[in-house]
Amino acid sequence: MNASAHIGVTGLAVMGRSLARNFARHGYTVAVHNRTPSRTRSLMEEFGHEGTFVPAETAQELVAALQRPRRLMIMVQAGAATDAVIDEFAPLLDDGDMIIDGGNAHFADTRRREADLRERGIHFVGAGVSGGEEGALHGPSIMVGGSKESYAVLGPMFETISAQVDGQACSTRIGSDGAGHFVKMVHNGIEYADMQLIAEAYDLLRQVAGYGPAEIGEIFRAWNKGRLESYLVEITAEVLSHTDPGTGKPFVDVVADTAGQKGTGRWTVQTALDLASPVTAVAQATFARAASGQASLRAAYRPLPGGVRIPMSRSEAERFTSQVEQALYASKVIAYDQGLKMIQDAALTYGWDIDLAAVAGIWRGGCIIRAAFLDRIRTAYAAEPRLVSLLAEPGFAKEITAVQVPWREVVAASVRRGVPTPAFAAALSYYDTLRADRLPAALLQGQRDYFGAHSYRRTDRQGAFHTHWGHPDRSETEV
Ligand code: 6PG
Repeated sequence: MNASAHIGVTGLAVMGRSLARNFARHGYTVAVHNRTPSRTRSLMEEFGHEGTFVPAETAQELVAALQRPRRLMIMVQAGAATDAVIDEFAPLLDDGDMIIDGGNAHFADTRRREADLRERGIHFVGAGVSGGEEGALHGPSIMVGGSKESYAVLGPMFETISAQVDGQACSTRIGSDGAGHFVKMVHNGIEYADMQLIAEAYDLLRQVAGYGPAEIGEIFRAWNKGRLESYLVEITAEVLSHTDPGTGKPFVDVVADTAGQKGTGRWTVQTALDLASPVTAVAQATFARAASGQASLRAAYRPLPGGVRIPMSRSEAERFTSQVEQALYASKVIAYDQGLKMIQDAALTYGWDIDLAAVAGIWRGGCIIRAAFLDRIRTAYAAEPRLVSLLAEPGFAKEITAVQVPWREVVAASVRRGVPTPAFAAALSYYDTLRADRLPAALLQGQRDYFGAHSYRRTDRQGAFHTHWGHPDRSETEV
């Protein structure tokens, strides 16, 4: 086998097959391999005409087909399956070769694998690929973590096959080792929050304003022409406008209301807890998915009383719709702000030098959270790379000021009427928490010192103190 392939792809399920085709369509010679060879054969039969593929039946054949430095992309299930493929291929590779994991791997696994393989002279690259099958084939957003040397070789290839926005590729080197998979994980966390906020807006328009799914689809279609323009709003309009062919009912009404999750949102929340990074909108979105699946608990709660149902006139419904758009936008800004801050927190913890302007830039296209306002986010971080929050940028601060009243009225209406809006409420409470001059955390510190002698700090002098709650004089000593 002559070593002609620019890249090899092992794992030809939906994402792997689509990426292999994308590389081939852009003129690269692509060696392809799958544990079950029938998958390789079916790729060649169906799509072999799209470019230059080199089918390989074994790991050895695949490696032999690769130009040096060899570039091998793994597209298999995250976790043990990825480790198994690495164990199979690494012994066949030489110093300077590269293994790219394009799956939704946990960033901690990527950091471990990168360190292990670096010992053996192999570059391990964790590439977060976003955009689903459509994106992988026509242009994903690619968040790459790994050495500068490997990106010098791989970058031009990823930038060629990625989505392009204003002539800029939606692929970049995020940072070393697990940085790429970390940012992909946060992308998915923001995705959860964004989807939950949209779902809550839909629920409010349905339950409070009294619109039907098709009407709400039109409302989202109109919102998609403004500051909420995004892939998720766009597809929401499509899903809500869809009629189930079998029953003639609105599609959304025949779908079981229990949400699945493959795990990346959960990882985001778990990691955020370790980082003490309060991604409250992501957390509520993830827990909302869990709650939707608690069938027996829901059955127990269902008979219990809730809010009041007050029908709205047409004009009241139209006014409420405008308020919901403002509340959705405000909550979305908060959710993205939380995710971006979490990336800053992680960069400090893991020693990554992450350019948030570049992150926002490659999220403008290809990925699931692509949205028009990401261009303004990119501009904000380009102007001030150390921006502590989007709300420290005058434009976003002005916008959040303008939507204060409707944002609060929508959350209040949801509470009064018993319509659950966990993500809306979390975003608003996060905003109020960070605005507060004094938080009730002071009382928490008193309670902790009372029952656990955990000590507290004072506002009027340095040091840590403990009050002797069990003594009559309740004296205070510095600890
Ligand atoms: C992407 C998506 C993708 C995600 C699935 C479903 O960026 O292309 O985020 O990576 O895994 O869309 O994820 P859940 O099952 O967790 O919703």
